[in-house]
Amino acid sequence: MLATPSRSALLDALAWQVEVGATDAISDHPLDRYALPDRAPWLPAQATPTAPAGRQAPAREAAPPLPPAPPAPPAPNVDAVAEAEAAAGAAQTLEDLRAAMEAFPHCPLRQGARQLVFADGRPGSRAMIVGEAPGREEDEKGLPFVGRAGRLLDAMFAPVGLSRTAPDPERALYITNILPWRPPQNRDPKPDEIAMMKPFLARHVELAQPDLLIAMGNISCQALLGRRGITRLRGTWTEALGLPCLPMFHPAYLLRNPAAKREAWADVLEVAARLESP
Ligand code: URA
Repeated sequence: MLATPSRSALLDALAWQVEVGATDAISDHPLDRYALPDRAPWLPAQATPTAPAGRQAPAREAAPPLPPAPPAPPAPNVDAVAEAEAAAGAAQTLEDLRAAMEAFPHCPLRQGARQLVFADGRPGSRAMIVGEAPGREEDEKGLPFVGRAGRLLDAMFAPVGLSRTAPDPERALYITNILPWRPPQNRDPKPDEIAMMKPFLARHVELAQPDLLIAMGNISCQALLGRRGITRLRGTWTEALGLPCLPMFHPAYLLRNPAAKREAWADVLEVAARLESP
């Protein structure tokens, strides 16, 4: 029988996990992968083999409750984009839309994420920012752009009086992402993931009713404009989902390339000027 590991052995095991790069627990409950089920799961109940007399296994403690089961895996022949269009189109309010996204089973990213990250700021703001996907802190808090990149985003718009907490829709920002679930290891979203979540984004924009969009970074440009190449695209107004749209460098890019902040500042001024104009 395995001895219960000591506290210091558990701490050493945890330190090792951190050292090899584990950043998240994938479940809230420990799972004993060595525990044997009472019967092989592939056998029908009546076929459960019994241990020969004298070789009965010792009684086990009741297993801890399992974490909630993940949503059923998508059926193989489902048209996920068509299902997303139907679910998004039926949403009459932002709360409906959030619920429809929570119930949408087809995006594989949801399996690895802690929660759906829907939006932050004030719906009805004139400016709506569309980022890429939640990172670790966003996944923990359930809000977009709350990590380092988010703090830079707030700091970029504050000098022109725009913020996600402003009560006045003229000065407020509304913020969401192309994808509402954190991709594993923050990898780039795949084209099929973007395609199946885009109908929800389009409905999100319709329901939030901004006057203009700000596409943050390449993934956002890919999803909204069908084009990448943020260095060329940034700073020039274009159109997405029927609205004026300004591509900008993603704040995470600016953290890695501070020299690009000069252009990002020019783009912030451009947004502010557009909002000032009648
Ligand atoms: N990067 C994004 O694109 N979105 C977030 O919410 C956080 C980081």
